[in-house]
Amino acid sequence: MSKRSSIQLCISIFSHAARPEQPTLPHPNFIVPGSDPTGLWGRIEDRLWNDVFTRDTHFVCPNGFRGSNCGCTPERFAGDNVDPDNFCVAYDNVRCGFLGRKAWRAVFHDFGTYNKNDDTGGLNGSLRYELNSEKNLGNELRQIINIYEEILAEEVDALGTMDNGDPRGMADLIVLGGVLALYGCGHPGLMFSPGREDASVPDADILPAADESPEVMFGKFDRMGFSRAEVVTLMAAGHTVANGLEGAAFDSTPAQFDMGWFGQTLAGVAGVDNFPQFQQAPFIVNTDAHLVNNDETRAIMVHRATASNGKATFLEDFENVSLTDHEETRPLHA
Ligand code: HEM
Repeated sequence: MSKRSSIQLCISIFSHAARPEQPTLPHPNFIVPGSDPTGLWGRIEDRLWNDVFTRDTHFVCPNGFRGSNCGCTPERFAGDNVDPDNFCVAYDNVRCGFLGRKAWRAVFHDFGTYNKNDDTGGLNGSLRYELNSEKNLGNELRQIINIYEEILAEEVDALGTMDNGDPRGMADLIVLGGVLALYGCGHPGLMFSPGREDASVPDADILPAADESPEVMFGKFDRMGFSRAEVVTLMAAGHTVANGLEGAAFDSTPAQFDMGWFGQTLAGVAGVDNFPQFQQAPFIVNTDAHLVNNDETRAIMVHRATASNGKATFLEDFENVSLTDHEETRPLHA
């Protein structure tokens, strides 16, 4: 099939206009009682849930890729290196889809500049000024941040502006979006309270990158203030719902916040001979492989994948992981 006709086919499937809307689903209130006296964040929470995270899209490729986008987002599809046999089917009105993944990834990409030594960077909304960085992969995170910018612009009278004229509230919105996205993916839910300070300029470009050595990667997580167990926890919590660059998921259930990443990454890196009870992960990013090749982090992964209390330990550790902003006392979920 010519590239032109395959583009037409994908665009027509991609438009998926005839699908019926699903009824609005209820959600628990994730806002800490008393922390939102005007009801502004409750309004934003409802809007994010009803308009974004339950109206998400999940892309499936008939060629075996079962990621969220199979390399066939509108942007990628227009690119030159798209496999012409790789047609997308889009399912609308889902939870834990294309935007949900981006919302959860955005939390880490805003937080990951935190430097515990001089208390700079972190969850400060500076991601909105860092979207051209290679680590944020251009349009990928831009798609969710653009939605957040629209919401903040509409609520600017209540939120106020910074010196540069941009509405305040991006740091809080990134966190609230992450909480809702995670819930949509099956996490039991984290609490949120607003009040983070927004930055008006980009942070230093110091996020971890996929191609760096174990020493550099662990050094960056040390700089953020995470223990080795917390690094494993965070990576699992992120990549259990993640997709690879070509749409291959990081575990077999990318639309589910579950335990799949642990065993499948172990089997993928250390071999199914060593872990015959697990299938291999469809895709493994180099930095995830570093966790299997390091004795300390591998032992943590093995415990979580195989011990009877592995899941409980993971969920408890995740509850306690402190994705702080500038105050050690303000974790992601409070
Ligand atoms: C060494 C640290 C990390 C590196 C190098 C890394 C790298 C990557 C890469 C290369 C992708 C694929 C991007 C794409 O296909 O567009 C990805 C996806 C993702 N990552 Fe990470 N990651 C790291 C840590 C984390 C952490 C700590 C979280 C969350 C707590 C996280 C959450 C996600 C999510 C949710 C996705 C899916 C994005 C999507 O499907 O659109 N990552 N990561």
